[in-house]
Amino acid sequence: MSAAMELNDRFQWPADGVVRAPYRLFSDPDIYQLEQERIFRGAVWNFLCLEVEIANPGDYRTTTVGETPVVVTRDRDGAIHAMVNRCAHKGALVCLKKKDNVASLNCVYHAWNYSLDGRLKGVAFRNGLRGHGGMPADFDVAKHRLQPLKVETFCGMVFGTFDPSLGPVEGYLGPEMAQFIKRNLGRPLKILGTHSQIIRNNWKLYAENLRDSYHATLLHTFYTTFKVNRLDMDGGIILSDEKWHHISFARRANMQEAEEYNSSLHSANYDSALDGPGLLQSWNEFDDGITHSIQTIFPNLCVQFTLNSLAIRFFAPRGVDETELFWIYLGYERDTEEQSQMRVMQSNLTGAAGLVSLEDGCINEFVQRGTRTSPEAMSFMEMGGREVRSEKNSRATETAVRGFWHGYRQIMSF
Ligand code: FES
Ligand SMILES: [Fe+2]
Repeated sequence: MSAAMELNDRFQWPADGVVRAPYRLFSDPDIYQLEQERIFRGAVWNFLCLEVEIANPGDYRTTTVGETPVVVTRDRDGAIHAMVNRCAHKGALVCLKKKDNVASLNCVYHAWNYSLDGRLKGVAFRNGLRGHGGMPADFDVAKHRLQPLKVETFCGMVFGTFDPSLGPVEGYLGPEMAQFIKRNLGRPLKILGTHSQIIRNNWKLYAENLRDSYHATLLHTFYTTFKVNRLDMDGGIILSDEKWHHISFARRANMQEAEEYNSSLHSANYDSALDGPGLLQSWNEFDDGITHSIQTIFPNLCVQFTLNSLAIRFFAPRGVDETELFWIYLGYERDTEEQSQMRVMQSNLTGAAGLVSLEDGCINEFVQRGTRTSPEAMSFMEMGGREVRSEKNSRATETAVRGFWHGYRQIMSF
């Protein structure tokens, strides 16, 4: 019996549905392996990199899809390609740097050489030496290449999939998600900075956390004290048609102070001021009034916009209980120097050493440690009801987390 069949045999989703998630999901190595196959190498569009990271012919950028190493290239004609970064000879990594500019791709092990689109061009000692050795006469370079992924770009992002039959990215996103990505990323982008961190939790705890609008103003006390993002601001949750992706949004100007904050949250009443008020200095960027948004794209991408801090978060599994989290802080090419500086200043809110989201790296590990010895126990997610649907007037809901599990169950056949 295959591991997947055995797993389907002993793993049953609770009868209550997506209002529960069994803790086994965060610690079982068989489930983790099956996710690599059914999700990351399955029918999803994976974020690979930004177009600006491979702006010039000959540029490459390495990344991973799930745990599979992948290289994205731009060829001499400007076309973008993505391939598994695994030599067709013995499987060594071919591209070893995070990024580089090269004439062709060369494996260091036995010097097999590939063009920028992954086709095999040269094999060292193919004809042997002095009439001896070499490849058999029927060896055909055209039959060996780096395994290609299907690639598409959308709003400056490069996506890849292992499923050649998957439709276009825009259809995968759905109209509302695509429109909001265009709002945030639909003009020439400029990278302001990047960093990454290892978090010691299963990747799905981070996928949940990003969709968890309930925690944002409770765990992140800075948001509450300084009124950057609170549930008593006008805001809500939009789920994509398939419920896999989501947008959480808030309008800072429309806040009606709620009693709940004063009774249960000390941080709402802190009488604090910033020594450097420039941190929260911002300008109105869009006419829809939205000042804070978190958008997730299944399985592992997030676009965030808080005040004027625009960033992409992308998280890649590194084992059943370890995840690597990447941050790319962005501005627009059209930004003035002052605007760029304001975005950089506001980026201090988030990230590994930021004022807000350092707590997320920590809290997800707390969940991992709290749950790993109780695979049969499960979470309880009924905030905002048991439905999985958009809630345009409130973020006191776990509907987007339920949406993630809805998509997860579909693609995993659980
Ligand atoms: S493994 Fe790449 S050339 Fe041998
Ligand atoms: Fe958070």
